[in-house]
Amino acid sequence: MQMKDIIEKKRDGGMLTREEIDFFVEGYTDGNIPDYQASALLMAVFFQGLNKEETFYLTDAMKRSGDVAYLSDIPGIKVDKHSTGGVGDKTTLVVAPICASAGVPVAKMSGRGLGFTGGTVDKMESIPGFRTSLESNEFKKAVEEAGMCVIGQSAHIAAADKKLYALRDVTATVDNIGLITSSIMSKKLASGSDAIVLDVKCGSGAFMKDLEAAETLAEWMVEIGKLAGKKMAAFITDMEQPLGLGVGNSIEVQEAIETLKGKGPEDITELSVKLAGYMIYAGEGAASYEEGVEKAKSAVESGAALEQFRKFVKAQAGDPAIADDYGLFPQAEFVLPLISEKDGYVTALSAETVGKASQLSGAGRARKEDDVDLAAGIILKKKVGDSVKAGESLAEVFANDRSKGEAALKLLKEAFIIGEERPEKRQVIYKVID
Ligand code: URA
Repeated sequence: MQMKDIIEKKRDGGMLTREEIDFFVEGYTDGNIPDYQASALLMAVFFQGLNKEETFYLTDAMKRSGDVAYLSDIPGIKVDKHSTGGVGDKTTLVVAPICASAGVPVAKMSGRGLGFTGGTVDKMESIPGFRTSLESNEFKKAVEEAGMCVIGQSAHIAAADKKLYALRDVTATVDNIGLITSSIMSKKLASGSDAIVLDVKCGSGAFMKDLEAAETLAEWMVEIGKLAGKKMAAFITDMEQPLGLGVGNSIEVQEAIETLKGKGPEDITELSVKLAGYMIYAGEGAASYEEGVEKAKSAVESGAALEQFRKFVKAQAGDPAIADDYGLFPQAEFVLPLISEKDGYVTALSAETVGKASQLSGAGRARKEDDVDLAAGIILKKKVGDSVKAGESLAEVFANDRSKGEAALKLLKEAFIIGEERPEKRQVIYKVID
């Protein structure tokens, strides 16, 4: 088989066979196929597309290019949740303890933040002592003790995707439905969980900017997961404004804890309880989605989910006292308020701009190698639909470097649009596809 023939076939609109896709993925991972031929094939795919069969073959080949089934030793039906990324999305830290307290184990790998979106691993590292890197026996022990475990993404998962994603990034070939689906799903399938609930974000702070694009991606991912024999569902959820009120690292963990105490913002509470409800159902902890949601609500009301969170923190060497004493989190030196200049209603609040402002405050990283300030970030005081008076605070910026805090404050101002008419409150969940 020749790489040149495969490129030519796709360039001319042909459908690639499983053998051709395997040949490409294996050869590129091993270093036998050079970047220039891989780039040519990616561009041909970008223009000609992949059908669902080719996408499934590509997903499967990339899944097999690294370690697989690190969850296989863990008993029970394992359920994973994946968010396509957004601003203020701390749902994993709420959903996983709820599921674990309902008897459905959650063992997952999460990523770090990059650009204006945050990552669960950075957030968890704001808990003093917390370890996000565990050996496989420690990982298994943590799931046994706490019913859940969240660790950083191993470099050995879907090795082909790691190389190909970096190449797509510099050859303008990221934005293709077959390539995005196979990239996300290869990593999810490699983990070996039995059911996957996807949270596909839609709006200015998301990868998918409109509902149609988010729906298409959700449908493709659900179909590919089902072809691989997994129970699948996708929630399409709003990311036009940030989720919840906190954006940052320790700030988001504190909001997740408040939500587990039943005192979280409405949007994060609704989304977490519904995602967890679906995961409990998929993990056979409930006979229906509705019963799963009821179980999720009671896990919060009874305090069982909060207790599970304490066990989770302890099992990963963190200090569980943080659940009751937020003073144990890293603290920011400066708190800068954003004051409204006029009366009115918040008619728009750009998730993307808030995310960028949070990054400027020090909470995010521009390049993979950058450090993050675990105490930095933003707490919103107002969201879309809220009324505001001149002189009232719209948000607060937390920073350890005053100049970074001031830069964040300047940008944050642009995120808010204040109008005279009260707009509708934004919907949180647009659709569930299963
Ligand atoms: N996230 C991924 O992991 N891969 C993509 O291709 C796009 C978003």
